[in-house]
Amino acid sequence: MTPFRTQLRETDIAAVRQLVRDTRVFSDTEVGWAGEVIEAALKNPVGAGYFALMADGPAGLEAFACYGPIDGTLNRFDLYWIAVSPAAQGKGLGARLLAASVDDARARGATHMFIDTSTRDDYAAARALYLSQGFELQGTLVDFYSDGDSKALFGRRL
Ligand SMILES: CC(C)(COP(=O)(O)OP(=O)(O)OC[C@H]1O[C@@H](n2cnc3c(N)ncnc32)[C@H](O)[C@@H]1OP(=O)(O)O)[C@@H](O)C(=O)NCCC(=O)NCCS
Repeated sequence: MTPFRTQLRETDIAAVRQLVRDTRVFSDTEVGWAGEVIEAALKNPVGAGYFALMADGPAGLEAFACYGPIDGTLNRFDLYWIAVSPAAQGKGLGARLLAASVDDARARGATHMFIDTSTRDDYAAARALYLSQGFELQGTLVDFYSDGDSKALFGRRL
């Protein structure tokens, strides 16, 4: 298995935005945020608090994950982003990427990881992925994003 790339490049900012847009589950605002975290990590790899794993394929960026320590907590990390390009989905890449993110977070001192996601139908794959990787649904904030769109809180001890 190819190890994931940890060294970010300037071209990753646009590539991540495009990948996130291609998944068709994120809003334009969220697409912008995805580019911003990569930009921040690129500018300040140590201090930004964002670590990324990139999966390159023959046609460019196939997937990425981004995670980092949660301010004000003791060794708790958040998974901020995980996305696999539509053409590469359903082949185990998301599972490998999440497992590698967990391993890297643990190596950086994390003892717990948390993930927020939506309860919408188009996030069913994400919720199933988290459960398949040992995360538990620890709570739901009803109507958090909008009426009928709640926030699901997943977590696991590493
Ligand atoms: C969620 C996502 C990252 C999964 O990546 P992936 O490479 O397709 O996932 P994998 O092939 O590694 O599948 C891992 C597990 O996830 C679950 N899963 C993946 N796709 C699924 C689907 N369409 N429906 C239900 N479960 C699914 C399964 O449990 C699967 O394990 P299994 O194959 O042993 O049953 C991908 O669908 C994606 O990028 N979605 C859009 C972006 C997104 O929702 N990101 C998370 C935002 S919080």
